[in-house]
Amino acid sequence: MSRRSVIVGTGSALPPRRVTNQQLADQGVDTTHEWIVERTGIEARHFAGDGETTATLATEAARKALAAAGVDAGKVGLIVLATATPDQTFPASATRVQTALGINDCIAFDVAAVCTGFLYALSVADNMLKGEMADYALVIGSETFSRILDFEDRATCVLFGDGAGALLLKAEEAQDRGILATKLHADGRHNDLLFVDGGVSTTGTVGKLRMKGKEVFRHAVTNLADVLNEVLAAAGHTSDEVDWVVPHQANKRILDATAKKLGIDPNRVVITVDQHANTSAASVPLALDTAVRDGRVKKDDLLVLEAMGGGFTWGAAVLRY
Ligand code: COA
Repeated sequence: MSRRSVIVGTGSALPPRRVTNQQLADQGVDTTHEWIVERTGIEARHFAGDGETTATLATEAARKALAAAGVDAGKVGLIVLATATPDQTFPASATRVQTALGINDCIAFDVAAVCTGFLYALSVADNMLKGEMADYALVIGSETFSRILDFEDRATCVLFGDGAGALLLKAEEAQDRGILATKLHADGRHNDLLFVDGGVSTTGTVGKLRMKGKEVFRHAVTNLADVLNEVLAAAGHTSDEVDWVVPHQANKRILDATAKKLGIDPNRVVITVDQHANTSAASVPLALDTAVRDGRVKKDDLLVLEAMGGGFTWGAAVLRY
């Protein structure tokens, strides 16, 4: 037995405003429903409205995770929020979530690793729980990418959406439960393939998302297949033992190609990209919460989470739910 981080609750939040592919076309984006579905599998996404922010979505997801676990917010000793679209440059959006939950003193900070942000946050929180810095941790991915999309650029604006997902982790003495292994990577040589063309210390502006989609696609399949093999080996498991893969929801074609490369049955891959599009750091916990609530993911299932994003960054985790 050793001290492990066990998931005791999940939650998610989507802004009420749902935007279909056809609505994007009707609003002037030079695209069609058919093109978007064929190239990405995306049918709709949610966009935040007035007053809805990364922190408000994160708070709603966190509240649902706490409620699912039946745990009082006062027990939370650590909040790690993964986001590339914080409410403000500083303070960390995690502290806004903390205050909204009525927690007066805990560790709270944001992690920026774009679409891999949730895997980074999960790994950091896991190690802090193992290091006895807290007993309960909220690990949240939350994004409002609609606010950094260039709606004149049809190759990017159709791909992303807003939302949040949260896990409540509890440190427990366990053998084969909770987070079993995490692996993280970054390679900054590829900064220029997926980035935002603004920033506090450069232009002094927020900027808009820019991407070379074809090149990102090519790197994604290779990096994801490699890190999945690496994390499974570290956990002492093989791909045929995995009950569910919960991937970052960037593009259905990337999910299919990665599953094929690893020989994983596509029916064991949780897919929500059709309804949520790419919600960056929120997509993995949002997909996991969806699959927990619809009954697909059950207690004792072996799960693999994976993501790849700007930087490039990429990572994966193996856990027994
Ligand atoms: N609607 C209609 N046509 C579009 C379009 C849209 N929304 N976006 C691009 N096109 C057009 C292009 O202008 C191009 O036209 P042309 O041949 O006349 O020049 C054509 O479609 C093909 O574009 P291309 O970029 O080669 O398409 P693709 O097959 O590579 O698909 C992506 C584009 C973005 C869907 C694909 O590259 C992709 O999914 N990449 C990975 C992106 C990703 O997931 N990033 C996030 C990782 S975290």
